[in-house]
Amino acid sequence: MSFAQRTVSCGHVRLSHAGEAVTLNGWAHKVRDLGGLFFVDLRDRTGLVQLILDPEKFPQHSEIRPETCLSVTGSVRERAPETKNALMATGEIEVVVESYQVLNPCKTLPFPVSDEAQMQSVNEELRVKHRYLDLRRPSMARKMAIRAAAVRRIRAYLDAREFYEIETPIFTKSTPEGARDYLVPYRLQPGQFYALPQSPQQYKQLLMVAGLERYYQIAKCFRDEAQRSDRQPEFTQLDLEMSFVTQEDVLQLAEGLTLDVVNGLIDEFELEKEKISSFTRLTYDESMRRYGCDKPDLRFGLELFDLTEIVRNSEFGVFRSVAEEGGVIRGVRFPGGAQLSRKDISDLENFCKEYGAKGMATFQVDAEPKPDHQGAITAQGWAVRSPIAKFFSTEQLEKILQTAEVEAGDMICLIAGNYAEGNNILYRLRNEIGQRCGLRDPKKLAFCYVLDFPLVEWDADSQRWSPSHHPFTAPKHEDLQYLESDPGRIRAECYDIVCNGTEWASGSIRIHRPDIQAKVFDLLGIDAATQQSRFGHILEAFQFGAPPHGGIAPGIDRLIMFLTDEENIREVIAFPKMGSGYDPMMDAPSQIDPQQWAELGLRLS
Ligand code: AMO
Repeated sequence: MSFAQRTVSCGHVRLSHAGEAVTLNGWAHKVRDLGGLFFVDLRDRTGLVQLILDPEKFPQHSEIRPETCLSVTGSVRERAPETKNALMATGEIEVVVESYQVLNPCKTLPFPVSDEAQMQSVNEELRVKHRYLDLRRPSMARKMAIRAAAVRRIRAYLDAREFYEIETPIFTKSTPEGARDYLVPYRLQPGQFYALPQSPQQYKQLLMVAGLERYYQIAKCFRDEAQRSDRQPEFTQLDLEMSFVTQEDVLQLAEGLTLDVVNGLIDEFELEKEKISSFTRLTYDESMRRYGCDKPDLRFGLELFDLTEIVRNSEFGVFRSVAEEGGVIRGVRFPGGAQLSRKDISDLENFCKEYGAKGMATFQVDAEPKPDHQGAITAQGWAVRSPIAKFFSTEQLEKILQTAEVEAGDMICLIAGNYAEGNNILYRLRNEIGQRCGLRDPKKLAFCYVLDFPLVEWDADSQRWSPSHHPFTAPKHEDLQYLESDPGRIRAECYDIVCNGTEWASGSIRIHRPDIQAKVFDLLGIDAATQQSRFGHILEAFQFGAPPHGGIAPGIDRLIMFLTDEENIREVIAFPKMGSGYDPMMDAPSQIDPQQWAELGLRLS
């Protein structure tokens, strides 16, 4: 097909083109028929420009419907002052059409590509089924542009630091990242299967054994696991690995890369985000104690506090017995929470109960006693309201308020019980309070490193130790002494990057000595025969002078979520799967032919 090719992109036409003839290629975004004049907003991926057609010159103009694909030639002219549109980059000009060609008509659309407001109510599966139309929407195209630019910046940063970009296989053997594998039957040996990689973990370590020293890859990973709003069955990591490095080297590299990429994207796309200057660092223990979790949202403070010692000798039986049984009484402040009604508090308590709390105690603090106030008044003259206030002396209440760093007008919420279970409730409660109080500032990207994770965690279901990260993570040298006596006490040379309360990256210094790797496999209950069948290749490789090495893998999809304020990972992936793993556009997964079943030696039982 011959057609007039563009001389300029739609979004780039400016007043400086006035008087010039231009050719544009794109899609009719919106059409408006004002009787005497016919207006079309023509769109390509750079933006929109307004066209004007004279209906008398083009009597067939009604063939131009939304999303018709066009080539247009016309002359650029300045708009009359009252019709200029300051909100449009091309709002000072319009193009008077001299000729046009329909490159392809468009049938009735399943949803209005040009109307963002109406798109809010369109069923998401319908959008994904017609993703090629959904991606035409400027808001979606912009996310794809940000994503492409993020990957371009990552490559530039690492290429400049002597990393090699290397592809590793997709048909491989099961990798232990904790999820189920996707399996691919092998036709030539029925009964044998490849696994799709959950991450390139073992390959990147083998590249270090191979002496390539610095590797990265924009890697597709595949995990058959329960989906969440920030998980997809196939997703993309920036996977990297370095030899002859310490933990600190990897931390500095990943932090430097993140600052460069994120701040560069904020400038390039004028994102409404504050630039980042450094990562906060927390140890795992500190993060659990101060925020109740290993992925704290550091856009706001509201650190947890511990009242166990203050309330241990109070008259309140519940707190006393929890303290006597080795439990803890900890809490979080709710700024402005003195305003909450009994119903609001009971809703908040129910929220905690969903995560296993038996109850939630509260103290509301008024600057001045209400007329009917009966309870304690502190030295500052604050009135403390709580169904359990009567069980505490004024001195105890003052200590409680001091420890909680309460201001008049606040409320504190307390959870009593086991430390770990309390953390699980308090971290969610803290996030909920942060959300309700508007403390999750959308302009902030609060990145932090969480360091010194435990090497292993006790899995009560399977009655064995399981790795906190993966089995290739190196124990801290000074903690190796606990390998047999007290494995739960061993800290690992491993680290996460967290952003705004979501895990973004994980990494570690790896074990590079076969004897230590075998000991860790032993600890994880992987017997010698299984070690050989599953990991024999890596245990053998380590015997050929494997260098010390370590790396990290940040999620690319999640990075784009943070930058574009998307709550759902599907919004930043060109062709995502729905919650069930279904792809409505390709209708995948789908049936295969009887002949394919036979060739693969497969049968449904
Ligand atoms: P991990 O399993 O923690 O580590 O994954 C690293 C990062 O990948 C992203 N991620 C996901 N993103 C979307 N959907 C998913 N289902 C999903 N799963 C993980 C997250 C996560 O922080 N091999 C190790 C890395 C290493 O040790 O170097 C690994 O894969 O952003």
